[in-house]
Amino acid sequence: MSNNVLILPGDGIGPEIMAQATRVLNHVNEHFSLGLNFDEALVGGAAIDATGHPLPDETLEKAKNAKAILLGAVGGPQWDTLDMALRPEKGLLGIRKNLSLFANLRPAMLYPQLADASTLKPEVVSGLDIMIVRELTGGIYFGQPRGVEINSEGVREGFNTYRYSEPEIRRIAHVAFDMAQKRDKKLCSVDKANVLEVTVLWREIFEDVAKDYPDVELSHMYVDNAAMQLVRAPKQFDVVVTGNMFGDILSDAAAMLTGSIGMLPSASLNDKGQGMYEPCHGSAPDIAGENKANPLATILSVAMMLRYNFNQSAVAENIEQAVSDVLDQGLRTGDIFSEGSTQVTTTEMGDAVLKALTAILEK
Ligand code: IPM
Ligand code: MG
Repeated sequence: MSNNVLILPGDGIGPEIMAQATRVLNHVNEHFSLGLNFDEALVGGAAIDATGHPLPDETLEKAKNAKAILLGAVGGPQWDTLDMALRPEKGLLGIRKNLSLFANLRPAMLYPQLADASTLKPEVVSGLDIMIVRELTGGIYFGQPRGVEINSEGVREGFNTYRYSEPEIRRIAHVAFDMAQKRDKKLCSVDKANVLEVTVLWREIFEDVAKDYPDVELSHMYVDNAAMQLVRAPKQFDVVVTGNMFGDILSDAAAMLTGSIGMLPSASLNDKGQGMYEPCHGSAPDIAGENKANPLATILSVAMMLRYNFNQSAVAENIEQAVSDVLDQGLRTGDIFSEGSTQVTTTEMGDAVLKALTAILEK
């Protein structure tokens, strides 16, 4: 498993952005003789169309044997009416759960070149650098019981269960505290402890784990306030840690602070040294196949993969620098376009990143 990378392009813009990201990955693999082996498989709607299931056994087997997985995006309107258990999203959720990829890291960092692309005032977002740590394999996404049933009064009722066990909370707490220790030593845990018992427990356990990290300043915030603070004064945050659903929502909000969700990479890690890397954005069916999507989040996900799974921080930095360089050149896909910049296609953006990377590596 040690050097296997599984590529899962998925649906919508997934294959387009993946094509650009794998060009970058292949380039550094050869240049630095990293010895990575690549394999590809179907997931999501593409897998449903080919096999009838969003996570075919073959894909799951390959995922289990991979050191790292690079995923594009899943989902699209043509599969929206399918039974919940067979929807494209189940492919993604199934990999997360089966591989216990419980720690989801979503860095929201503003490239200074994109200060104008944010809908917030430049002074509110300039210098922004937040790390959202989202618990990814528990909470209401996976809690049982769940379903839609006819209740005792004969009316249909839908229900999900929000639950977290103590060990689940402890392990994500450790990831978050470790992360804060490597950064500005400020950790904000987001919960709804004024209403939900499960998050009262969450808060208690975070207080307990904090004793192991005296150098980290722990604070707690209710999720509604956190949503407001993220758009009011986002620079107050360093590391934010929260459960699965709150993390899903807050990370989209944080993404927009950076100008576009098209810029945000993510890593999902387990405790066996495996990781899945994906852009935070979705499959954008409205622009799929038009060569318009922003491939930078996926390219930056490749950088995260090299950093977190293959211990290649220097190579990761080269890729991040190449992305920054193309932004310096004024190149923008539609989502980050602003007056005075040059609009480019997905492939042109990939070309530009490769060119910038080659220049960096030749220096
Ligand atoms: C994300 C996505 C997924 C999630 C969907 C596609 C299931 O929104 O990774 O944030 O809700 O986790
Ligand atoms: Mg989401």
